[in-house]
Amino acid sequence: MSSSTTHGTRGRFIAFEGGDGSGKSTQAGLLAETFDATLTREPGGTIVSTKIRELVLDPAHPELTARTEALLMAAARAQHVEELIVPTLESGRDVVSDRYVASSLAYQGVGRGLGVDLIADLNAFATAGLEPDLTVLLDTDPVAARSRLGDDLDRIEEAGADLGLRVVECYRSFAADAPDKWVVVDANGSIGDVASRVHAAVTERLGRGAP
Ligand code: TYD
Repeated sequence: MSSSTTHGTRGRFIAFEGGDGSGKSTQAGLLAETFDATLTREPGGTIVSTKIRELVLDPAHPELTARTEALLMAAARAQHVEELIVPTLESGRDVVSDRYVASSLAYQGVGRGLGVDLIADLNAFATAGLEPDLTVLLDTDPVAARSRLGDDLDRIEEAGADLGLRVVECYRSFAADAPDKWVVVDANGSIGDVASRVHAAVTERLGRGAP
């Protein structure tokens, strides 16, 4: 959401993942600032994807089924990838996304019990295979994170602490299975401390951000 960054090549795509209340959005914003990257989030990032977000997170629709939820997340992502992420990367700018496909694998695949393989296939279609260069997992105790959420919960957060626990376990196993694609950062501590850890971890893996 700021001016141009040109590395002379395709930009780098960095995703942030974590349970609800992990401080992920704050940290994604701070990294995007230091990298002079385009900051975006899921579900969202484009007008159409944001309309889908409003629908899929609306607590007024408890009747939304798990399959519908998975399809809406994937639809929002398809638009986001084609309209915003790919053109930005192609212009040479880095992109930082607050959540991406792993959120669907964790929340819909495992949390809602639809199965990781099925959700992975659905998302391979939605994204035309676009994967992050690096995913940062902000790892925090799910019970403490949930207590930070307050009372204004969206439809998915309302599904309860049990879903939150399964999601966090799931992220940890994705990171353990693909250490070349994931970096786990301890999300406990002050915003500044966590931001320094994130910055160090990302630059170690991808090199520096914008000069
Ligand atoms: P958001 O308000 O962005 O919360 P957070 O700060 O925790 O990221 O809400 C996004 C919610 O949508 C969050 O509960 C996770 C959920 N979600 C999915 O279930 N599947 C997905 O693919 C994505 C992108 C998000």
